[in-house]
Amino acid sequence: MMAKAGGGRTPHPKTPRASEATVADLMMPHQANGLRRPSVFGGVIMSMVDRCAALSAMRHSGGQCTTLSIDRILFKEPIRVGELVEVRSRVVHVGRTSLSVLADVYAEAIATGVRRHTNECWLTFVHLDDDGQPAPVPPLKLETQEDRLMHDLAQRRREALLAERR
Ligand SMILES: CC(C)(COP(=O)(O)OP(=O)(O)OC[C@H]1O[C@@H](n2cnc3c(N)ncnc32)[C@H](O)[C@@H]1OP(=O)(O)O)[C@@H](O)C(=O)NCCC(=O)NCCS
Repeated sequence: MMAKAGGGRTPHPKTPRASEATVADLMMPHQANGLRRPSVFGGVIMSMVDRCAALSAMRHSGGQCTTLSIDRILFKEPIRVGELVEVRSRVVHVGRTSLSVLADVYAEAIATGVRRHTNECWLTFVHLDDDGQPAPVPPLKLETQEDRLMHDLAQRRREALLAERR
């Protein structure tokens, strides 16, 4: 996904909380797959994850970002039509021009209020300048133990991705 936000880039470090984003949608019949007992089509969830993570990348970088990779999306359990899907994301690691974003997906059965964590996904974005070239992003300020844990996990994932680079 290519996305653009207004405003200039700040040189100041930003915390993962500053880039938190949420995208939510009520799952409708046209979003179901063709299974005998239909669940929501995986591509619907992937689209929501990409859009939400792009918002986080834009919030951190203060400008346009493009998806470089969707490293992994794990579908742990089905999401049903009629459930509310909420994606929450934040930037957990930055390189010079790239940003690693962690997105969590929750499904809520509205009638009962029961909420499940159904998916987690790691994405990498690259911040682009007005000419479409990779551009530097602000540093990430790690404040909590959780920030440091996710940062280290993202760092290891990034190293693995770069090792595969041809
Ligand atoms: C994203 C894009 C601009 C990067 O171009 P590039 O020539 O690889 O740019 P660079 O070599 O300068 O790398 C940019 C950043 O991406 C990182 N990167 C590039 N390839 C990578 C890979 N395979 N794995 C992990 N990171 C990678 C680099 O390390 C660098 O990050 P850093 O500055 O934090 O170290 C280019 O690949 C692109 O335009 N891709 C298409 C994006 C798109 O259309 N997305 C929507 C898909 S539907």
